[in-house]
Amino acid sequence: MRSTRPAVPQISRILVDGEPLPVRSASTADDGFRHLFIPSTGEYPVYDEAAYQFMLNDRVRSQTYERAVAAAAPGQTVLDIGTGQDAVWAIHSARAGARKVYAVERIPEAAEKARRTVAEAGFADVIEVVEGESMSLELPEPIDVSISEIIGTIGGSEGAAAVLDDVRRRLLRPGGLAVPHHSVTTIAAVDLWRVVDVAKIGFEAQLLHYVENIFGAVGKPFDVRVCLNSLREAAAVSEWGEVEYLDYQGVDNERGSDHRTLTVTREGAVHGLALGLRLTVTPQLQVIDSIAQYTSWLPVFAPLFSEGVPVRPGDRIELDFSWQPSSDGIHPDYRITGEIRRSAGAPVAFRWDSPHHDAPFRAGDFYRYLFPESF
Ligand SMILES: C[S@@+](CC[C@H](N)C(=O)[O-])C[C@H]1O[C@@H](n2cnc3c(N)ncnc32)[C@H](O)[C@@H]1O
Repeated sequence: MRSTRPAVPQISRILVDGEPLPVRSASTADDGFRHLFIPSTGEYPVYDEAAYQFMLNDRVRSQTYERAVAAAAPGQTVLDIGTGQDAVWAIHSARAGARKVYAVERIPEAAEKARRTVAEAGFADVIEVVEGESMSLELPEPIDVSISEIIGTIGGSEGAAAVLDDVRRRLLRPGGLAVPHHSVTTIAAVDLWRVVDVAKIGFEAQLLHYVENIFGAVGKPFDVRVCLNSLREAAAVSEWGEVEYLDYQGVDNERGSDHRTLTVTREGAVHGLALGLRLTVTPQLQVIDSIAQYTSWLPVFAPLFSEGVPVRPGDRIELDFSWQPSSDGIHPDYRITGEIRRSAGAPVAFRWDSPHHDAPFRAGDFYRYLFPESF
């Protein structure tokens, strides 16, 4: 039987601006990325063939959106925001009987492919593919329905709040419909050693090119957000809370803060926080939960304590979760601050800063380990 456990990560290299940068990685061809970290990619313009395919293969996501589009599009003028290379929701809208579909995509190669795909599907008369950023899109008529899947591993991390706010203010007719309906980010304290081996912290080697591409897009290396597919119930030592409620039927979601208290439910050590997504595509459809279900949205790990802070059931984690637009005006910067209050031990304060691109590099133990100074 083949082992699903990864080899011990080795120090390999990626190129940043032509210079080699050391990075710890190993390869696990067959374990669904459960034991090694992968970068959170959706908030950067690094989508490639494989990334689009990974999303299309997500049956939970695809089936939910297919149903939502079939209900919302007939007879309507639709805007598909971030149509991707396959123009998937634009074509579904046209098939469902949309009167007109505008499909906007900011990545030029993806927009070009989308245009070809639309023509091949025989919908060039109904679907107009526009290359560019929705924030600078002008349309000849108000739209009835906006359809988008620009929801991040942290709900708002791909800029859905700012982008859909702009669409509602400028492009959607009054009373028009936004799909998805709303998203929520979920959060729990995790004991990393319940699901990964301390000696095997590293990136998944097969996906290292995304780290390279993200650093290339931002123009420098930084402490990129990381995902780990095994950060689910088995890793949690606290209950799950909900933060960052984003209502896509409304406006003014771009900044906010939430205070939450998470009660510790298991004995263990807190190494950080897991962040997940609950997405309500339409209120009639089942909520997609990236922690309870295996989807293309992977759980995010916010590292806090490399040694782990011992906790017992009944201890409390007080936290403040906040988000605000980064300097690009679209993608949020996140911050979590808080304190672990324990029955046996002094309170321990923590802080996680995760700016979208204006971020430090090797700011804590976790990132210094992932990105060693030398080979
Ligand atoms: C998560 S992918 C979804 C692709 C496709 N709609 C699907 O659901 O399979 C998000 C896509 O939206 C694009 N995108 C994100 N924000 C955008 C914006 N504000 N304007 C245009 N394209 C955007 C990205 O480049 C990417 O291709």
